[in-house]
Formats: sequence, structure tokens, C-alpha cells
Amino acid sequence: MVGPNFRVGKKIGAGNFGFIHLGKDLQNDEDVAIKLEPIKTRSPQLHLEYRFYKSLTNTDGFPRVHYFGPAGKYNALVMDLLGPSLEDLFDLCNRKFTIKTVCQIAIQLLFRMEKVHDKNIIFRDTKPENFLTGRKENQEQNKVYMIDFGLAKEYIDFEGRHIPYREHKSLTGTARYMSINTHLGREQSRRDDLEALGHMFMYFLRGNLPWQGLKADNLKERYQKIGDTKRATPIEELCKGFPEEMAAYLRYSRGLKFDEKPDYNYLRKLFTTIISDGGWVHDDIFDWSELVMSQPSVTQDSSPPKDSQPRRSQGNNAAAAPAAAGGAPAAGAQPTKASARKTETQDYTTCCFWKIKKKK
Ligand SMILES: Nc1ncnc2c1ncn2[C@@H]1O[C@H](COP(=O)(O)OP(=O)(O)O)[C@@H](O)[C@H]1O
Ligand SMILES: [Mg+2]
Repeated sequence: MVGPNFRVGKKIGAGNFGFIHLGKDLQNDEDVAIKLEPIKTRSPQLHLEYRFYKSLTNTDGFPRVHYFGPAGKYNALVMDLLGPSLEDLFDLCNRKFTIKTVCQIAIQLLFRMEKVHDKNIIFRDTKPENFLTGRKENQEQNKVYMIDFGLAKEYIDFEGRHIPYREHKSLTGTARYMSINTHLGREQSRRDDLEALGHMFMYFLRGNLPWQGLKADNLKERYQKIGDTKRATPIEELCKGFPEEMAAYLRYSRGLKFDEKPDYNYLRKLFTTIISDGGWVHDDIFDWSELVMSQPSVTQDSSPPKDSQPRRSQGNNAAAAPAAAGGAPAAGAQPTKASARKTETQDYTTCCFWKIKKKK
């Protein structure tokens, strides 16, 4: 049991530092999701995540949180149970989404990201695994929710000032989608959330990104290569064969100043223009809409293989000191056959990568 009335059920997901379980609210018989973090973890972050979720809890497109507290050896965060992630649905649709689907995802996610930013939070972990649809049981399979505030950060301080521009920051986020400025060690701000969304949209349209599958001897070099390839790929080439507005989106987000407030309406307009120019109807019917209805309910374990998970060296706010030894992903490790799959998956697994500190 968690708290007074939540029963813990089977595991449905595994994150970088804990597990997600199915659960039940025994008071009203409603299904819930329960995120568990070992109490003894070196870098607790679930309490911060709870705070972020709480500030968004009655906002459209974010799960409500019902409880946070200890449960045996764990801290538990109880929230609404949602449906499959965009990555699950991408697989279901043979790893390509149509332009209409991507535009409708984009419009919803720009509303979500705007809400997050309105609450003085930057997300810093855009990836398809962190966007879930609602459950078909609730007729919410066409609504995209945002989850996972494990790397989120407040970008406005208690006096209302934007955090200062900094360099030499650790990489926080997921290498495949993160902005070029993040690769360059620049403090993240609203612009980076938007650029990462743009990379994800192009991933959905193209089926892959040019910086996937790069070979490197270690994680640090790998992230460097991903960043170099991002910089070397002209936007026009990345977006070739797709509506010009896709390139405009990326140009705009990459062109934003560090503390500039993005024009979310302008960006949404780019996608509504693509929809109307294509002769489509903006009806929030997605490529998966029909398919999902014929699938069993989502109770599968959607977790990546355990060995592909770099440990989250430190939960949260980069305001805290860089993680002491031990927590960082094995940046110095040489690839071996055994770690081949691990290396392959590391560019889409959340990282919080600090320069290696030698343990004395
Ligand atoms: N509310 C939820 N309902 C259903 N599945 C969830 C929910 N929250 C998380 N999950 C599943 O668990 C996975 C990991 O959860 P997440 O909060 O993203 O943890 P992490 O920070 O470790 O990535 C998600 O990608 C998703 O598949
Ligand atoms: Mg996640």
C-alpha cells in the first residue's frame, strides 16, 4: 500500500532511477500510476518532480498527482494513469508519422510547453517516451500529455529574474533531441525546449535523424559527435522534402535569444498553415487513432532493457553541485561487445552527464 488508500500493482515501466507501477485508488476504484524512487538513492529527485507536477496538476494535458510520500523502502508519487507513449505509437505506426499527425502533435505540445514555461519551469527532457496519450478507456487516445519532470528546472528565480546565462554546463537531457546549445554546454532556457521539440518532430517525419547510430569510443565522444553532426547538418537538408514551415520552426527556435520569450502562437500557426495548405482537417485524429482502439489496454512493460540505462547521476536542478563521483554514466568506458547495445541506446536515454571527476 501507498498512503492510506493506494494499492501497488504490477510494474509498467522503468526509468533511470526507479519504477513505474500500476496502482489502484481503493476509495474510488480508479487506476493510477505510481512512480517509485528508493529512499536511499544518492540523488533524490522525486520530491522535486512532485512539486513540478503539482504546479501543473489542474492544467489540461498534465496528469493529476494524488499523493507523495514514503512507502516502505521507497518514496512514491501517485498520479493519473495514462496511455502509451509517442514512441510506442511510433512503433505501432511502423516508425513514420504523417505530416498531419506531426503537426497536430506539435500544436498540442506547444500548448503544453507554453504552460510549463508559464509556470517558470523549463522541461529539459524532450523525447517521445515522455509524451503519453491519455487512455482509450477515457476516450483520451487523441490527447497528448506531458510527463517526467525529473530534469526540469525553474528558470525564473524567486525575485522574478531569469536565470543567468552560463557556459560549461553538463549535458542534461537526451542527446538525440537536445538543442545545439545544450551540446555546447550552454545553460538551457525556453528556446532549448522548443528546439528539442523541433528535432523530435523531424524524427517523426523522417523516421530517423542524421545523428543517430554514430560510432564512438565512449559516451563523451559520442555526445560530441552527435552535437557536431547536428551543427553540420543544414536545416534545409534536415527538413528536405517536408513543408517549408518545418525549417522555419527550427530556424526560429535556434535563433531565439537565451532569455527571449518564444512566440508560441506564431509557432502553432506554422503547423496550422501546413494542415490547411495540405487540405487536411485539424480534427485531432492521429495515425494511431484507429489502431489504438484495436489494441489491448496498456499494461505492458514499456521499459528499455535494464542494461541500457545510464544511471541518473543527479536528479535535478543544475543549481546543485555537479554529481560527485559514482553517479555519472560510464563516460570513460571502452565499448565492448557486451556493451554494444548499451552504446546504441545511449543517445536516446536521458542523460545527466558531468565531466568525469576522478575519484581520489
Ligand atoms: N502516469 C503514467 N501513466 C502511464 N505510464 C507512465 C506514467 N508515468 C510514467 N509512465 C511510464 O513509465 C516510463 C518512465 O516514467 P518517467 O516518469 O518518464 O520516468 P523517468 O524519469 O525515469 O524517465 C514512461 O516513459 C512511461 O512509459
Ligand atoms: Mg522519462
